[in-house]
Amino acid sequence: MDKISVLIPQEQIEKRICEMADRINQKYEGETVHLIGILKGSVFFLCELAKHLTIPVTMDFMSVSSYGDETSSSGRVRILMDLSDSIKDKHVIVVEDIIDSGNTLSYLLPFLGSRKPLSIELVTLLNKPDRREKEVTVADTGFDIPDAFVVGYGLDYAQKYRNLPYIGVVEIEKGENDE
Ligand code: PRP
Repeated sequence: MDKISVLIPQEQIEKRICEMADRINQKYEGETVHLIGILKGSVFFLCELAKHLTIPVTMDFMSVSSYGDETSSSGRVRILMDLSDSIKDKHVIVVEDIIDSGNTLSYLLPFLGSRKPLSIELVTLLNKPDRREKEVTVADTGFDIPDAFVVGYGLDYAQKYRNLPYIGVVEIEKGENDE
């Protein structure tokens, strides 16, 4: 069993997500927003955010692989599952659980932007500024966090712990895979 300590408690996450939703409600008043969740980590954040939106919302999902089987330094992004619907002439909000190196989103935002949405912005629950390799414009960030191995609220360690209702730091024992 991995040892996990709480970094950001559930109440604090949910309070911050309410604030993030308020900003969107105000900015897009009178419009419909199209949320795009990047699987799998963003799902919990996207659901909580969407519950607090009072403007009309549609949503779609895509799956990307940032690095294939290589390390984070390769910066390659592959589309594993594309969107179901066109984003042309929609107000798109890309929803992420975490921005780390910035490789994924620095590729994905221009890629989606080329499909001619009316507007496009990125919101992320977590941000690791110390790890940034590529510039990414983020409209709103839930929390800047240190460079620790975080899990919960969608984030995994070897596909586990996504369901934890808080953000925790996992102490990885020597000899285990890191993912
Ligand atoms: C995470 C996150 C971003 C990406 C950010 O996804 O959801 O898509 O990594 O990292 P970057 O800034 O270094 O590119 P991950 O590849 O862990 O997939 P998952 O959401 O399915 O766990």
